[in-house]
Amino acid sequence: EEIEKRGYPHFMLKEIFEQPRAISDCLRGRLNLEDDTIHLGGIADQIDKLVDADRLIIAACGTSWHAGLVAEYLFEHLAKLPVEVEYASEFRYREALIDEDDVMLVISQSGETADTLAALRTAQERGALSLGVCNVVGSTIARDTDAGVYTHAGPEIGVASTKAFTTQVSVLVMMAILLGQKRGTIDQEYAKKLIHELNEIPGKVEEILEHSDSIKDMAKLFSYAPNFLYLGRTYNFPAALEGALKLKEISYIHAEGYPAAEMKHGPIALIDEMMPVVVVAATDHTNDKMISNIEEVKAREGRIISITGEENEEVINLSEFSCPIPETEDCLSPLLTAIPLQLLSYYIAVNRGCNVDQPRNLAKSVTVE
Ligand code: G6P
Repeated sequence: EEIEKRGYPHFMLKEIFEQPRAISDCLRGRLNLEDDTIHLGGIADQIDKLVDADRLIIAACGTSWHAGLVAEYLFEHLAKLPVEVEYASEFRYREALIDEDDVMLVISQSGETADTLAALRTAQERGALSLGVCNVVGSTIARDTDAGVYTHAGPEIGVASTKAFTTQVSVLVMMAILLGQKRGTIDQEYAKKLIHELNEIPGKVEEILEHSDSIKDMAKLFSYAPNFLYLGRTYNFPAALEGALKLKEISYIHAEGYPAAEMKHGPIALIDEMMPVVVVAATDHTNDKMISNIEEVKAREGRIISITGEENEEVINLSEFSCPIPETEDCLSPLLTAIPLQLLSYYIAVNRGCNVDQPRNLAKSVTVE
């Protein structure tokens, strides 16, 4: 086991640092930078059905469900395809409406999660085309879907998912651009920009990892907070949910992720000087709104930690701590904001003496109900 950790104290840290390589492996052979196209061999035979679909339904659990939420923003923005994201466990037990004009996309690192598999079976019984995004090659979901795309993240041992998430999002970005091109809903210049920018993501992740020590230092100051709030908007709302989940899973600190504007409908009542608020701020059209949210938190003495583009000076200046990340297109930003969020949870969990790789009560793959 020590050899497999390659000098890292935990699998989780090793897997966080593997992300530049994992994302490169995921993109390899799929991005064509010469003619600005995307090739996803696993779904090539089914792509026409996806192009003609009325609706895409995404079912998943845990971190994979968060990747699904990012996909909702991506597919609606780039491919103008209506998307519904379902907790697999809810989808399977309610009278969900799905038929042969819909496409079911299941996302699963392990490819074995019982609820996700059951949601897949339901969709198949109703005649929907089924697609999968899985990491484990030859897993049940990978075998039983009509077509799919592997994430190629390599084995993920830490219970808290890291590289599986960023590679899932990478696959979903590629699917959304490809579909946007096929459906004629994405401007080719923009598609070109995204494809080239996606190719830069592994290098940008590397840059963030080079500054991991500053996150380690910051984590020391917040390791004993009883609660955390994570706020995001648009593409970084799912990132905020994922950041909160990571903290809960491995450090046992209560954390909630919220769409920033919803803060005033509840969580704002909890804010005081004991409450760190992690703001995940993309620099899109919601930036001004996010700045007012930050001011609302500060007015109540909440402590702002921001994760935002390095040029977003306004947000950086308003924050007590900031993890600046390289600038990128907004729709790709969850691939970058995920990294400081993972590192923050990791270092806090280590400071609290938690069993990072095998947190209590959690399993890597939930194959029973
Ligand atoms: C468990 C794991 C999570 C994972 C979820 C879904 O809860 O601890 O890390 O996100 O299952 O797993 P899947 O393999 O379907 O992505």
